[in-house]
Amino acid sequence: MPACVVMSDNTDLLVNYFTMSYLSGKNILLGITGSIAAYKSAELVRHLREAGASVRVVMTAGAAEFITPLTLQALSGHPVSSDLLDPAAEAAMGHIELARWADAVLVAPATANFIARRVHGRGDDLLTAVCLACEAPQAVAPAMNQSMWEDPATTHNVATLQERGIRVIGPAVGSQACGDSGPGRLLEPEVLVRHLENLFTTGILAGCRVLVTAGPTREPLDPVRYLGNRSSGKMGFAVAAAAVEAGAEVTLIAGPVALSTPQRVKRIDVVTAREMQVAVLDGVKGTDIFIAAAAVADYRPRDVSGCKLKKSAGKLTLELERNPDILAMVAGREKAPFTVGFAAETESVELNAQQKLQAKSIDMIAANQVGENLGFEADDNALQVFWDGGSVQLERARKTRLARQLVELVAERYHHKHDNDTVIKLHAKDPA
Ligand code: CTP
Repeated sequence: MPACVVMSDNTDLLVNYFTMSYLSGKNILLGITGSIAAYKSAELVRHLREAGASVRVVMTAGAAEFITPLTLQALSGHPVSSDLLDPAAEAAMGHIELARWADAVLVAPATANFIARRVHGRGDDLLTAVCLACEAPQAVAPAMNQSMWEDPATTHNVATLQERGIRVIGPAVGSQACGDSGPGRLLEPEVLVRHLENLFTTGILAGCRVLVTAGPTREPLDPVRYLGNRSSGKMGFAVAAAAVEAGAEVTLIAGPVALSTPQRVKRIDVVTAREMQVAVLDGVKGTDIFIAAAAVADYRPRDVSGCKLKKSAGKLTLELERNPDILAMVAGREKAPFTVGFAAETESVELNAQQKLQAKSIDMIAANQVGENLGFEADDNALQVFWDGGSVQLERARKTRLARQLVELVAERYHHKHDNDTVIKLHAKDPA
């Protein structure tokens, strides 16, 4: 068996994953290739959906000899794609769109032929083209005869995929359809699901406590009216979910939004900026990283009427007063956590972001241009992230993917700062 085989067929791993799955809300692209083990893919789709994932299936021509697209369409709830050059299918969801849609790609079963074509960067059918175009994490679950698995060409190809960051899940050892016994069996669907979950857990913030604010705040004017803004909370919720996947313990303080709580996140709902301030100051002690994604109202009506205001013939003038700047308060604390702010701008994005970075004394700021279906209320965003001495452009992508990239960056800068602080403290103690 090649040294690169990493997974075991261990059903003990299956602890409660249906209720706690990291796959909940994820888009999984399942590739199926031409192996007798393709019959297990039906069960795999069912398990993925029970874990809360949306599943789209792409089959090779060989796979369709073993299991019908109709079966997989019925189980996944979506038409199955297989033809790269079918204009109708490309018009519905083409290979680039499928690649962008996917949060992860799992090819199961993956034949020796598919693995070889993947290694060589072939894009001559829909599945290989989608894999080539996809930037999301990818995994293959090999299934083949044991001699094919142990062939040096396959061993080399599998090792190459792993070097490129493609996860290889399995194969299991046991009796095979051809009568042989040895390595080459597709892992059982439940086990594949469990390993697929691991694609989403990086551990880069393991042991860290992260506090995130998200959504708008509403500043009441009378019992039925308020001042608010168009923030949907999607970015902050995605950041909270990404921080959990990074291994952090996450508390999310949310303004009024219509979003469900990400798995494993402790959520505290608030309405006004001052309620958000109280919740943040309550929760910030012991926090390692504070990420302020909320669009906090800078002002609130000075007088809140106890009864509904009635219109009159003349103009109405509202007097507003400043709300506390929650992010600046946290950054100004004596033992401040690593602080990350957001800046949604309509113009001079970089200049405004740099000014906010300085003015609030924060460690990092993620700025975005509002408009063109980006930012507020949209599913997509693009971010320019700045810190003292550096910046990175995160290209337009769905907020869930962008949030993962942002959390990676936050983790990197946080650990950098932490390590430097430790070195400075050690030097301060050094009598020499
Ligand atoms: N923020 C905050 N408390 C406030 C206002 C903003 O914590 N009262 C945080 C936001 O969560 C965000 C960042 O500060 O991370 C935005 O900075 P800010 O300068 O307040 O942005 P805008 O409100 O857009 O400022 P301006 O209207 O001046 O552009």
